[in-house]
Amino acid sequence: MLSAGLVASIPFDRESSVPFYAQIYSGFRTAILSGRLGPGERLPSTRSLATELAISRLPVLMAFQQLLSEGYLVGKVGSGTYVADPLPNVTGARVPWWRPANKPVIADAPPTATERPAVGGAQGVFRTGIPALDRFPHEGFARVVRRHAADRSVDLLGYGDPAGYLPLRDAIATYLRSARAVNCDAGQVLIVSGSQMALQIAAMALVSANSVVCVEDPGYRFARRAIALSPGTIAPIAVDDMGINVSSLVRLGTRARLAYVTPSHQYPLGVAMTASRRSALLEWAQTQDAWIVEDDYDGQFRYSGGPLGSLRGMDRNDRVIYVGTFSTVLFPALRLGYVVVPQTLVNRFIRIRQSIDLFSPLLYQVALADFLSSGQFTRHLRSMRNVYRARRDALVQALETSADDVMQLGNTDAGLHLVTYLPEDVDDREVVRRAERQGMYPRPLSTCYAGDTARTGLLLGFGGSDETTLASGVYALSALVRTLRRPITSDRSVRITN
Ligand SMILES: Cc1ncc(COP(=O)(O)O)c(C=O)c1O
Repeated sequence: MLSAGLVASIPFDRESSVPFYAQIYSGFRTAILSGRLGPGERLPSTRSLATELAISRLPVLMAFQQLLSEGYLVGKVGSGTYVADPLPNVTGARVPWWRPANKPVIADAPPTATERPAVGGAQGVFRTGIPALDRFPHEGFARVVRRHAADRSVDLLGYGDPAGYLPLRDAIATYLRSARAVNCDAGQVLIVSGSQMALQIAAMALVSANSVVCVEDPGYRFARRAIALSPGTIAPIAVDDMGINVSSLVRLGTRARLAYVTPSHQYPLGVAMTASRRSALLEWAQTQDAWIVEDDYDGQFRYSGGPLGSLRGMDRNDRVIYVGTFSTVLFPALRLGYVVVPQTLVNRFIRIRQSIDLFSPLLYQVALADFLSSGQFTRHLRSMRNVYRARRDALVQALETSADDVMQLGNTDAGLHLVTYLPEDVDDREVVRRAERQGMYPRPLSTCYAGDTARTGLLLGFGGSDETTLASGVYALSALVRTLRRPITSDRSVRITN
């Protein structure tokens, strides 16, 4: 029979948003897979376990039923349950079996400091997802907005097309074809309120209760949140230095309906998906009749070689839903983004988009159409590439010269942020909490993980701050990390896991 110590070692948190049955299930599953619970070992009765955890018996019964159905346990619930001998052949990705619909996806508590996006403006160093607002072409943009705001025609004051203002869709299609190798026409481009809405629409359009949605692990938390509003199951799939592990996707079989990926600049690790992985992913979608959401949030900015083309550009079978945003290239408060939708899904997406909030503000759409078609947008992008390269270089240099004892650099080839790994004894969330008190806003890497293994590190945005601010930020941040290291007694060497 299982020792009391082992039951106590099953992680169980009454305050967690993860349902009790899911916690019990994954606690026992992990104990079995790690060998802490050996084959043939007898488990306590569901009744005694429920008493020990001071909960009702139902969640324990549900967890045991699931472990039985997956072959980890044998016997009969209620009359003796044992760890299976031999264990089932466990391969492939870890797929949580509980449905988001059964758990409180959105907690009632306000978001904690480490969960928040860069709310509250754009001040402070290291904010992620913030472009160079100090270089924003205010005058040119204000001119187009002013002109349309002063327009006395009533056309701008009524209801707009749910798919978006056609000249803007046209201008975006032209830009995407030439700059991102996205094959599309205006009819497939939908205007949305930022990428966040595009992800929500994709999930609502394509995910049913039986579907599994694959997300990169580590990955973008707000993508997981948007997907979690749909009734499917989220499967975190590991990312390595070539991008998402496609073999794990393949092993999930036919339930996997959708994969969310950031191929040009993986969020948060920064790797670019290799050509072979891209082909494998496209082939997976075609074979499984599944869909891929490509989030190209900052793929325009690449510092070694030219920008990588999009995954959608390689897609011969119309399986890729391409999502882009003006948040990272103009400013986030604009709340305008776009989605290129496969032909067969266009009407479904428009209907859902319309059901959410009818259409995006027309004045900004019209102004943006002018901003793009007059060439101001591409000029701005071109000059920003040089600004970001200089900022990235300054940040990398500061990290290498004054922080390499505590912050190890990850990939720095693209985008508006980079990742640094911390010594494993440093809690990145604590670093972030304290950094915010000093006006610095890095994000904790560990919170980007949805699976069990999280690494500790910091995401440092460099788009929004000049070179001097970044260098002094590194100085202050690395000093802060040093104060949070546990005192080392015998072994004084730094251990950074990579
Ligand atoms: C991975 C990722 N996707 C998308 C976005 C932009 O989101 P939105 O267009 O909703 O502002 C960001 C911003 O930081 C991001 O990091």
